[in-house]
Amino acid sequence: MDCKSLLVTGGAGFIGCNFVRLLLETEPDVQIINLDALTYAGNLASLGDCLDSPRHHFVKGSITNPELVGFILREYAVDGIINFAAESHVDRSITGPQVFVETNVGGTLNLLHEGRGAGIKRFLQVSTDEVYGSLGPEGAFSETTALSPNSPYSASKTSADHLVHAFHHTYGMDTVITRCSNNYGPLQFPEKLIPLMIMNATQDKSLPIYGDGLNVRDWLYVGDHCAAIWRAFQAGKSGEVYNVGGNNELANIELVKTILRHLGKPESLMTFVKDRPGHDRRYAIDASKIERDLGWRPQVDFDTGITQTIQWYLTNQEWLDQVVSGEYQTYYEAMYGRRGAV
Ligand code: NAD
Ligand code: DAU
Repeated sequence: MDCKSLLVTGGAGFIGCNFVRLLLETEPDVQIINLDALTYAGNLASLGDCLDSPRHHFVKGSITNPELVGFILREYAVDGIINFAAESHVDRSITGPQVFVETNVGGTLNLLHEGRGAGIKRFLQVSTDEVYGSLGPEGAFSETTALSPNSPYSASKTSADHLVHAFHHTYGMDTVITRCSNNYGPLQFPEKLIPLMIMNATQDKSLPIYGDGLNVRDWLYVGDHCAAIWRAFQAGKSGEVYNVGGNNELANIELVKTILRHLGKPESLMTFVKDRPGHDRRYAIDASKIERDLGWRPQVDFDTGITQTIQWYLTNQEWLDQVVSGEYQTYYEAMYGRRGAV
């Protein structure tokens, strides 16, 4: 896929900003237009010196805005779109699902519609393993596993995947979908498990573990996810779905204990709190298709990745202070105040 002008949406968020940095470093012939609404989860500080690059054009705005998206596609002669922009936090989708449908479904539809109108060459949707629902103790999700989302967040991401498929099937649009497991690494907003636990532990605050702590997630370093997305964008087959995973399953409680060991903090900081409603028990990804067909493999093992991640948070207090100003305290009190210890 020859792409010289790429629209990246949500490029001020966790995965998007890591992706923008990767491309600026490795693809000197590609210009990036980064469209991000700068919600609570998007922060210009995450882009740092990327903002100085002449190959990176930041636009503040929403993927739900047809005039703006149409303008960007024509003004910058965009030939490809990678859609990271989303409301991404499951807990927030449980307390306020509307915006998840507006952004994740409406926004994706708008990008597809405008992208098709502008004749872009390829559209890649950054999706999630959560579209497959929850697993028992055995097995893993493959690309043919039936979609069975359980949360408002995953239902909105599934709807978006269906729209991407429909644009490929109905209009012959060139589309690719990637479905990845849980990411971790630098610049993740501290509402998600790993950065929240690092931040609370360093401040000797309690670490809220939902339910019995035995829910299992498959953790992948963010740089490996970004590499998989770029590989799928460049070489994936039109109309296909590619699962992306770390082959690295961990129960939440084991993960939190690992973080505490690294930080030299006591396990007594862990507090079991009321479970997330509808909490998916286990995710596991079979990533053999992208490994076999596109030659992608994770490069960062978990020990290295988590050590680097913890170190990053310890040395980037300024970034943390910036992103937790604003609405974070209100969110935290509302989310965890009502959970209470069990
Ligand atoms: P994030 O919440 O950190 O970032 C989302 C970004 O999208 C933010 O910068 C936000 O400002 C922007 N945004 C939100 N609404 C917007 C709108 N209407 N218009 C333009 N920008 C908007 O999320 P993330 O963790 O970086 O996830 C990125 C994508 O990857 C999402 O689509 C998510 O579903 C998917 N994904 C995430 C993970 C994970 O573990 N974090 C795993 C698999 C897939
Ligand atoms: O699987 C991919 C998905 O991973 C992405 O699509 C989502 O955008 C991303 O947010 C993530 O969803 P999860 O719900 O798995 O991530 P989260 O970090 O919120 O939670 C991970 C696990 O930790 C989950 O079992 C819930 C639990 N948890 C989470 C928080 C925030 C706790 O026990 N305590 C907490 O305070």
